[in-house]
Amino acid sequence: MPKILVTGGCGFIGSNFIRLVLETEPEISIINFDALTYAGNLANLKEYVNHPRYQFIQGDITDSQIVAQTLAATQQSEIVDTIFNFAAESHVDRSILDSRPFVNTNVLGTQTLLDAARKFGIRRFVQVSTDEVYGSLGPTGLFSETTPLSPNSPYSASKASADLLVQSYVHTFGLDAVITRCSNNYGPYQFPEKLIPLFIHNLMRDRQVPVYGDGMQIRDWIHVLDHCRGILAAWEKGHKGEVYNFGGRCEKANIEITRLLLKLLGKPESLIQYVQDRPGHDRRYAIDCSKAERVLGWVPEMNFDQGLQQTIDWYRSNQAWVEAITSGEYRHYYQKQYGQRLGSDSK
Ligand code: NAD
Ligand code: TYD
Repeated sequence: MPKILVTGGCGFIGSNFIRLVLETEPEISIINFDALTYAGNLANLKEYVNHPRYQFIQGDITDSQIVAQTLAATQQSEIVDTIFNFAAESHVDRSILDSRPFVNTNVLGTQTLLDAARKFGIRRFVQVSTDEVYGSLGPTGLFSETTPLSPNSPYSASKASADLLVQSYVHTFGLDAVITRCSNNYGPYQFPEKLIPLFIHNLMRDRQVPVYGDGMQIRDWIHVLDHCRGILAAWEKGHKGEVYNFGGRCEKANIEITRLLLKLLGKPESLIQYVQDRPGHDRRYAIDCSKAERVLGWVPEMNFDQGLQQTIDWYRSNQAWVEAITSGEYRHYYQKQYGQRLGSDSK
């Protein structure tokens, strides 16, 4: 039975990935290694706490000792076959407020895991990266795997640095690694700081939604489970040292998404508030995922309108989950990020 180490498994994509693997891959057992930052939530996987193929370890990927202890302890029972590195500081706006944790976790954390992978003879390393490493597109064109890296935010710069480190370990040490680069995910369990869950959260409470700049920035949206299936396919069928892009073939301007959410939630346009733009805001992301389709036999399956409706339904049915994570630190962040932009409405 292959054992895998999933870092960042208490976050949005990592928890969806673990759920998918436990539900669809009966041969695989999982260690979820997560530091439980503000974005990590044990409640995301609470129904699996006692699952025979699931184990949680709280730890920081920058801490080489606990990473080594975890891999050494499991080596005695069953060797870890693969490390899936989801753990990251993941929000662009936070990286603008303070980039230090991004360099720490995303760069040094990845380097720590890469060294551990070498030391413990891990068969494969899967680095979960992002399309944001390619920078920003003009009105036409798509990011392919050969698009030069040109990150613009401290977040994307830290992810690009991690990708380069992974590639250097393949080249220098012969480590077997693959890198996945995906576009913007949406779906259940996403922390309400990113566009879609934040806007659902605010609209459900009749609060204004802060649209940055002119709202005409474009993102390519993909359902989180399509992304997770892609990561599994890259693990199973991807070639050593290769990069695989994943996207939903679903380009939408932010204002279009905002209007769709208003419609689906039955809220008035007056809740839209255009606010000061994000500094260095990337204008457009769009992914060419034909390599993943050709080599991995993967295709994005979820229709966006259906996926968005399901996501809204999920947030409606899981208000306690939202309430628990939007007290405390969240309020402090929201005030810092939006206080001046939104005025009195932000409180
Ligand atoms: P998230 O912020 O929801 O979750 C991150 C998880 O990592 C949390 O559980 C957190 O506790 C954990 N973590 C953070 N620092 C850690 C550390 N030092 N040690 C151990 N655990 C730590 O992020 P997400 O949206 O689930 O993203 C997961 C990965 O996917 C990230 O690497 C991100 O760059 C990448 N990605 C995200 C998107 C997206 O749209 N969200 C798109 C493409 C790629
Ligand atoms: P986000 O979800 O932060 O993802 P990313 O920056 O990684 O693409 O933002 C998606 C888009 O929505 C991006 O163009 C910024 C915009 N946005 C807003 O207009 N208002 C907001 O409050 C947030 C969080 C994002």
